[in-house]
Amino acid sequence: MSKVLVTGGCGYIGSHTIVDLIENGYDVISIDDQSRSTPYPLTGIQLITGKRIKNYKVDLKNFDETLAVFQENPDISAVIHFAAYKAVGESVEQPLLYYENNIGSLVNILKCVKEFNIQHVVFSSSCTVYGNPDRFPVTEATVLQEAVSPYDATKQMGEQILRDFALSSNTQVILLRYFNPVGAHPSCLIGELPLGKPQNLVPVITQTAIGKLPKMMVYGNDYNTRDGSCIRDYIHVSDIAHAHTLSVDYLRTNNSQNTCEIFNLGTGNGITVLEAIHTFEKVSGENLNYEIGGRRPGDIEAIYANNEKAIHELGWSIQYNLDQMMQTAWAWEQRIKREEDTISNN
Ligand code: WQD
Repeated sequence: MSKVLVTGGCGYIGSHTIVDLIENGYDVISIDDQSRSTPYPLTGIQLITGKRIKNYKVDLKNFDETLAVFQENPDISAVIHFAAYKAVGESVEQPLLYYENNIGSLVNILKCVKEFNIQHVVFSSSCTVYGNPDRFPVTEATVLQEAVSPYDATKQMGEQILRDFALSSNTQVILLRYFNPVGAHPSCLIGELPLGKPQNLVPVITQTAIGKLPKMMVYGNDYNTRDGSCIRDYIHVSDIAHAHTLSVDYLRTNNSQNTCEIFNLGTGNGITVLEAIHTFEKVSGENLNYEIGGRRPGDIEAIYANNEKAIHELGWSIQYNLDQMMQTAWAWEQRIKREEDTISNN
């Protein structure tokens, strides 16, 4: 059984990807220092898959400790690298924290990949690398604009580091550019666990609906869009997760001449903030307490994906629609409410 190392395995997308890898026959270990996560998802993974995942609670900025994990697991055949800080606003306030963590961790992982001659690496990138595009849908060939935050810059730099590393080694790399991951595993045993007050739209919606937040703001309805609110490409986290498994499959079975491939992971559907809110209200039966406020600094007006490359080359397909994204997000929020103590103390 091929062993895959997942960094950030206790995180939102990492935990969903571990489930998908196991369900597709892979052996998985995780490195997650739990500085931005909790051990709770490991319980959910075991309940869903029946497998107990070993997580090494190691800070990837510590090279010796990271190397020790590879020395203990010389049979790692692929690495999926999720571990990174991802709060855009925090990155503006503390850029050095982001460069040290996101770039330092990546470089350490790649030094270990080189030391153990690991052939396959999949990298968690983001649609934020496109900046504020002026043509839609964006393809993988869309020219990247200048990063608008240190977080965005760490993703653009991460892609460049991996391109250069792939050219200088035997390692083949896949860069996955996520659009907006939302929702939760249909079992409701794992989902998004935002630390503190959430910034992202869907957890803000569900926390407002459950009463954790008194109300929510729609950040602007004066954009040049069909209802004035921003457009994004929301994609179910389980669809994102399966694309990682397909990427490892692709690297193992394709003798692609390309050392570095890029894939957009989005549905191709642009949805406005107000449409997302109304869809949530429809599937949940809840009336959301929201107000129209001013624009949020740094927000782009619109972005959505051309996902044809992932569909045709990875064999990827979208399994979840917007209703199901909102329904699973809401079911997960209700579960968190029921088990608040268990989740926060684990
Ligand atoms: C979506 C839309 C907001 C909250 C994403 C990821 C982020 C990062 C960059 C991921 C925007 C509006 C939101 C609220 C609102 N990296 N909104 N009220 O900004 O597209 O960022 O890409 O890899 O993690 O989330 O996502 O969910 O923050 O916002 O009106 O309370 O919802 O203005 O238009 P965004 P988001």
